[in-house]
Amino acid sequence: MCGIVAYIGKKQAYPILIKGLRRLEYRGYDSAGVALLNGELNVFKRKGKVKELENFVEGKNLDATVGIGHTRWATHGKPDDINAHPHSSGNGRISLIHNGIIENYAVLKTLLEKEGHTFVSETDTEVLVHLIEEYQNRENLPIEEAVRMALKKVVGAYAIVVMDKQDPDKLVAARKASPLVIGIGEDDFFIGSDATPIIEYTNKVVYLNDEEIAVITKDGDLQIKTIGNVEHTPFVEHVEMEIEMLEKGGYDYFMLKEIYQQPATIADCMRGRLNAEEGWVFLGGVEEHSNRIINADRIIIAACGTSWHAGLIAEYLIEDLARIPVEVEYASELRYRNPIITEKDIVIALSQSGETADTMAALELSKEKGALTYGIVNVVGSSIARFTDAGSYIHAGPEIGVASTKAFTGQVTLLTMLALSLAHKRGTISKSYFQQLVNEMENIPAKVEKLLKVNPQIEFIAGEIKDATNALYLGRGYNFPIALEGALKLKEISYIHAEGYPAAEMKHGPIALIDENMPVIVIATNKSAYEKIVSNIQEVKARKGMVIAIVTEGDKVIGKIADYTIEIPDTDEPLTPLLSVIPLQLLSYHIAVMRECNVDQPRNLAKSVTVE
Ligand code: M6R
Repeated sequence: MCGIVAYIGKKQAYPILIKGLRRLEYRGYDSAGVALLNGELNVFKRKGKVKELENFVEGKNLDATVGIGHTRWATHGKPDDINAHPHSSGNGRISLIHNGIIENYAVLKTLLEKEGHTFVSETDTEVLVHLIEEYQNRENLPIEEAVRMALKKVVGAYAIVVMDKQDPDKLVAARKASPLVIGIGEDDFFIGSDATPIIEYTNKVVYLNDEEIAVITKDGDLQIKTIGNVEHTPFVEHVEMEIEMLEKGGYDYFMLKEIYQQPATIADCMRGRLNAEEGWVFLGGVEEHSNRIINADRIIIAACGTSWHAGLIAEYLIEDLARIPVEVEYASELRYRNPIITEKDIVIALSQSGETADTMAALELSKEKGALTYGIVNVVGSSIARFTDAGSYIHAGPEIGVASTKAFTGQVTLLTMLALSLAHKRGTISKSYFQQLVNEMENIPAKVEKLLKVNPQIEFIAGEIKDATNALYLGRGYNFPIALEGALKLKEISYIHAEGYPAAEMKHGPIALIDENMPVIVIATNKSAYEKIVSNIQEVKARKGMVIAIVTEGDKVIGKIADYTIEIPDTDEPLTPLLSVIPLQLLSYHIAVMRECNVDQPRNLAKSVTVE
């Protein structure tokens, strides 16, 4: 939610900032802005995408070696030029960019207004920059001290970077519950909400921790202290990321690239963790907690959106194979409903970004209550990855399309390995079934590769249903969460209303919606409830619904009833979700393209939701 980038050094700042903003645009695209310091403090900002900003600054003086930039996902105040960041102090001396929410902004604003401050925007951020100004004026403090004093008064979440016209060789950055990374160059510094705007220049980074303030100077000095004024030594890490990972690589959209990467990303997730020949599964990140996990009373999974759907699949997997009770919770509900969590519980947080505010808060609560916390995360070095007691990365590489695809299959791959490893240790499945599933896991990347060849057929089906206003997705057992995920994908990128349901639930309500205008996508690969799902398809056809069925290769029955069938390779039932989701990803992609939607940056959404 909101992308932050900043530069201080000897190079021209603007090209670095604008490129960084393009890389960070997936975090929000309501407006974009930069502030450049070169004797004068020049602020340029525009409603809309980064491109609008680029057009706006054409012909303007952009000469500066210090600057900050921001791309916004609006929370307080509509998306427009005035509410766009950077925001400036009343005296025009300070400029600030912010990701997060200042929760007590209304109280602070009233106090500041009494002191004579006037506000031009509707944002919470503007209050913070005025508060810094107030401290600076009142006590004649250097900018870093004024920032520290102001942050002591703030309730909420923030990642900020601040510039002061009268202290032009310095940037001040701080974070609490919103991510911030400092890149250390040869003779300069870069700041980003994540490493993507930095990696081109350096792979040496410092991840700022909560309530830390960094003071960075043009002459190469980096100092970190806490809001409580305690000095911390910067901990320098190396990021493993290639620049090609951040490019579309010949695809029209990142989403399509990411769908096609799945044979590789699933294989990467399993590398070194599963070996069919030797018959083992090993998750290094949790091994030291193995006893506690296999003897847990319960596993609670907290997540949001697509990650929550992956959590639902884990419930089927872990209960089916390892016989440990699992509860899957929306993180936003878990954190506020006074849940019963004890030290005998394991709380797994699933998150692509590792920054989702609700998931992070659910983890904090779970840790307080004594549970072992385990993060399954994609973004290396993210807040959740650093907060949890144990963790596993899914190694899917940067996922830039807002609609999650390869991260989902990465999560499911990791969770399948977890279920297998727990089942093996607890002796809840036979050795031969364990070996069969491990063997089949190794076949999954090749099967996904083969499955992707149905793309032209899916594109054709997309053309047939692209004008629908509603769609229903049905699945049973392991495919029920896939029905939910298929519906979410369609909603978020093509703006067609879609619902996912357990197939058998259809007759308890949704069946009333079915007529010839309602495409019904049925995931019908289940061996265990095959006849039942065939009956569900018959029920839809009896009401003139159009059925698109995902079936197992060689299925001879459903093709005769359904309007369209898409075949997926045969596999063991617990592994089906890794295949059955792929055609649904492609279907929503093609429909969105045909409806001329912005596939990678759907309206109103942002990739990582760092606010409540
Ligand atoms: O980064 P996270 O996995 O924690 O994000 C959770 C959701 O915001 C995310 O999955 C969202 O639903 C996606 N846009 C779905 O495609």
